[in-house]
Amino acid sequence: MNHKNRSIIPPFDNVLWRRFWYYIPIILTFAGLIWLLLYPNWIAPNSSINKSDLALAAGTDPVVAAAGDIACDPGNSNFNSGNGTSSACRQKFTSDLLVNTDFAGILVLGDNQYECGGYQAFLQSYNLSWGRVKSITHPVVGNHEYLMSDGTDCASANAAGYFTYFGAAAGDPSKGYYSFNIGAWHLVALNSNCNAAGGCSATSPQGKWLEADLAAHTNFCTLAYWHIPLFSSGSRASINSKAFWQILYKHNADLIVSAHDHIYERFAPQTPAGILDSINGIREFIVGSGGANHTTIASVAANSEINNTDTYGVLKLTLHPSSYDWQFIPEAGKTFTDSGTGACH
Ligand SMILES: [Fe+2]
Repeated sequence: MNHKNRSIIPPFDNVLWRRFWYYIPIILTFAGLIWLLLYPNWIAPNSSINKSDLALAAGTDPVVAAAGDIACDPGNSNFNSGNGTSSACRQKFTSDLLVNTDFAGILVLGDNQYECGGYQAFLQSYNLSWGRVKSITHPVVGNHEYLMSDGTDCASANAAGYFTYFGAAAGDPSKGYYSFNIGAWHLVALNSNCNAAGGCSATSPQGKWLEADLAAHTNFCTLAYWHIPLFSSGSRASINSKAFWQILYKHNADLIVSAHDHIYERFAPQTPAGILDSINGIREFIVGSGGANHTTIASVAANSEINNTDTYGVLKLTLHPSSYDWQFIPEAGKTFTDSGTGACH
């Protein structure tokens, strides 16, 4: 059959006409986009969302800052009216990273006030520095706050100075653990002073509370924090929080932040047994760089990715709906930093 002489009714055999049909989908797409730009509410007439709201939402995922091992006892020879020395009692300078900023919350990781967390010590030291952001602070208690000697106003038992200073923000004084949400994230503050909290095992009141809390909060992203780490390259790791890890791992938690060793350290995501697990593992940070003093590395632990023992500063965490960014912010004049991004699971 000869197709060369096929008859097509004019003007549809015209080359320009065929090109017109070819470009019609592109023309309609552009017209639609222009329509939506001119009349954004047309697509959802009852919605209060507009373009500026969407732009704002995209750029305002909440950011929190965390550190522990913070404020020297006002009787410390390095206290120097709160100004410290070049290498110790730097709580004023780490807190300078927090004031007049847009942090959605401040996580203080325990040993917030040395030497024993006395109420008068909190007023004379912590309150002048990190106290400037007390209104957005979500604390956990350290081991030093339970001490009853060797510092200012140490006579009170049961970390009374800490619980008096922070009030309701610290939770029930007989427990010291609680949870809350920031943005899309669920945050859990735990008490690693197990004796004071009634235990840390899965069958303890705290363990049972943690299990129930995580079952009730199915946020895609979860961060837990307490003072004494399970994993550390310093010499102060303890297995007392292993049940916390096991419960959190079972519930797909994403981040654990601790202190106690006065170092900064970041671990790769791992299991409660310390096995690298890039799929379901929990990433642990140690941020004992709050200002009091530094301690050293004993031996580098498995899955440790970076550590620093000479820079005070805070860990900044940006809490996206399904991921997080971390950045270590050093005190002014210092250069060590660490940053990256992880996905929730
Ligand atoms: Fe500690």
